[in-house]
This record gives sequence, C-alpha cells and structure tokens, in this order.
Amino acid sequence: MNRDPAPHHPLVQRLIDARHVTDALFSIVKPEFLYDRPIRERHRIVFYIGHLEAFDRNLLDQRLCDLPAFDPHLDQLFAFGIDPVDGGFPTDQPGDWPSLDVVRGYGVRAREQIDRALGALSDSARIGHDSTQGGAAEQLLNVAIEHRLMHAETLAYMLHQLPLAQKIADLREPVTTRVERGAINASMVRVPAGSTVLGMARESGRFGWDNEFGELRVDMPAFEIDRHMVTNGAFRQFIEAGGYREPKWWSDKDWAWKEAEQIEHPASWSQRSEDRERGKDGAWTLRTMFDEVPLPLDWPVYVSHAEASAYARWAGKTLPTEAQWQRAACGAPHAASGNFDFRSWDPQPVDAYPDNVSAFGVEGQFGNGWEWTSTIFDALPGFEAFPFYPGYSANFFDGQHYVLKGGSARTARCMLRPAFRNWFQPHYQYVYAGFRCVRP
Ligand code: AVJ
Ligand code: FE
Repeated sequence: MNRDPAPHHPLVQRLIDARHVTDALFSIVKPEFLYDRPIRERHRIVFYIGHLEAFDRNLLDQRLCDLPAFDPHLDQLFAFGIDPVDGGFPTDQPGDWPSLDVVRGYGVRAREQIDRALGALSDSARIGHDSTQGGAAEQLLNVAIEHRLMHAETLAYMLHQLPLAQKIADLREPVTTRVERGAINASMVRVPAGSTVLGMARESGRFGWDNEFGELRVDMPAFEIDRHMVTNGAFRQFIEAGGYREPKWWSDKDWAWKEAEQIEHPASWSQRSEDRERGKDGAWTLRTMFDEVPLPLDWPVYVSHAEASAYARWAGKTLPTEAQWQRAACGAPHAASGNFDFRSWDPQPVDAYPDNVSAFGVEGQFGNGWEWTSTIFDALPGFEAFPFYPGYSANFFDGQHYVLKGGSARTARCMLRPAFRNWFQPHYQYVYAGFRCVRP
C-alpha cells in the first residue's frame, strides 16, 4: 500500500533543498579533480564535501537532538574552514585527506542520522509549526540552512577558478552576451541628506546571523551614487588609462599587494595572447563558469576591494559606506526581480532589472554581484556572538575585512534581506563582487 510520507517541516524541507544545491555543485567537478585546490588560500574541494555535513552534525548534536558520534575524527577534521589570510597559504597534500568513499560515507551516515532525528522532532512538534523563525530550534535550523547556502556560493566562485577542462558542463546554461552593445552610460542618482538604520532589532523575531543584530542609526549628508554597478566596459577604460601602473590611485597596502602578485587586470579576465605577441592591445575575454567569452561590456565587473577602490579614486569618487549603500537601497523590493537564487551561473547586464530599483532610482542593488563598501566589518551596538558559534563573525572583527552588501547570482533568496552583511579581505579577487561609486 502506498502512503504519502508526512510532509517535512518547512525548515527541514529547506535543509533538504539546500543539500540538492550543494550536491549539484560538486557534480560539476570531474571526480579526479576533487582533491584539487582551485584557490590557493582555500581548502581542497574535498574538504567542503565533508565540512557541510560535519557542520550540521556538530551544530545540531545535543542542541537540537542527540546525534551520537560515529566518527569523531571526521567531526573534527571537517569542523571549520579557513579564511583566506593575506600572505599565508595552506600546505596540506591530497594524501592528507581521507578517500572519497570515506568522506561520502560519512556524509550519507550523517544525513541519515540528522533526518531521522529531525523527523522525530517535527512529529513531536518540538520544532514550532506556526513560526519558522522565532525559537531556538528554528534558529539552529536556519543556521544550518544558511551556512550551507553560503558555501553553495563560495564554492561556486571557487569552482569558477577551476580550469574548464576539469569541469563537467552538464549544468551549463547558454551564456547570452551582446558584445556590440557596449558599456552602459554611467549616470548617477542623487540621494538627499537623511538617515538609515543598519542592522535589526533583536526582538524582531526574524532570523539573522549574530552580526545583523543591534541597530545603528546613521545620519548623512546628501550624496550621489552610480545608478548601476560599474561595468566591465567602464573598468576597461581604467585599465587602458594605465590604472594598474599608477600608484596614486592605490593605497600603499593595495599597491604593494598588486605589485607582489603582479596583478594587471580582474581575476577572470584574459587578453588573447596572439594579440599581445603582435604588440597589439589584446581583445579581452572573460572566463564564465563554463566558457571563455568576449568580454561582455555591460556586465558588472568583479574585482577585489583594492581594485574597486583604485577605480573609484581614478574616477574622482569613492566606494559607498555601508550606511550610504543602505540608504541608497531604501524602498527597493530586495527580493522581487533580479539575478539571484542560483538563477544563473553568471551575471546579467547591469541594467537588466529596472524594477529592482530603490526609492531614489538606484538599480540592481540586490543580486547580480555583491557590492564592496568602504566600511570595515565590525560589530553593531550590543553585539552578541551566537554561543554555539562564537567565532562566526567575531573572528573577523580584525580591521582586515570589508562589508559587502546585496548579493550575487549564486546568493540564495533568503540572504537578500536588508540586514544581511557579507565580508571579505580587500585582496581577495575571486568573490562574485563588484561595486558602484559615490561622490558628495
Ligand atoms: C560570510 C561568506 C564570509 O565563507 O568565509 C561559511 C561564511 N563562515 N562557513 C565565509 C562562512 C563559515 C563566510 N562568509
Ligand atoms: Fe563553513
């Protein structure tokens, strides 16, 4: 006899859906390359296969349900990832990691165990049925879901750096670019003097990470902000004007980094070598997730904070502060239309979503690329770390990380909320992050 299984609790269903997203992501890597390290500052790919499952086990065990350890060594090994730190690189070898069978077996067993325990909890109504946000159980599940979804994004930009020949392109979608269209006219929008409130109240009853709670009201004078994100076409002008060879556009630290790493252009750009050899200005190409295409001039440029800041200075502008960015976004339907929630592997033209617009006429702030701000990542007033994850944000309140706002094509819808804050160090080129500029 067939009986429909009881529907999952909405949060349990979201955890299962998030697993499909990360499973699909690992499936684009040819298995023989799963022990590769596409970004030298980060772990080998295989680490993340184990990490996503170990994180859930370590988090939920004894806080939400009993998950007796069956492999404490792997619980430990896969507990935490690493932050890319300027200068230092991990030196582990592929042979230092367990075999794929062992890692996958661990994941299968962890999921079975978690699912059984969560099923029993929802049957006993220990996960609230009315509220999917408020209580402690809901908070833990949201942490598991969003942690996994954040990795779905950071993994995507990691796999973006993997050579195309090492990927399986089954999930590829056609990349449509209209090269002939050229750069978007860089118009600016005026935002009158006023204020914004960063963060959200602890009593809001909504889920957020530790760094989103606490409210900070910021008053500011009027300013102008780019209507659209800075495009590849506009950024190419900075390169052609010699921007990467002119120290005055760069801070001392950023210049030293750029020189040491011999960076001459955004990470995913290349110049056709035949052209360079003939001494011509080479035609630029862009590496998308599964292709190499002529540089789409109307897409947002993805660069490090250092490169974004140099461009801004060259243009006689600055990056927005977190508060300016947020005030500019006032009234935007943040999750209405836009390039986010895994809709595509790559960006769209910066003006593709005219109804993703703020009350001031600023377009496309949510989706299509995170946006760097000039604000150093720090606690809001009354910050309290989650007791079950004390280092999530606090480890990065070190003056070495900048706030990013908005979201990219690979950001899940739930994280497009206005209070969500992302952060990276300024010399990290691989994030799906661009920028727009402001001036007084
Ligand atoms: C919030 C995206 C900066 O990937 O470094 C995942 C998220 N922290 N596991 C990161 C995170 C621990 C974090 N970011
Ligand atoms: Fe993690």
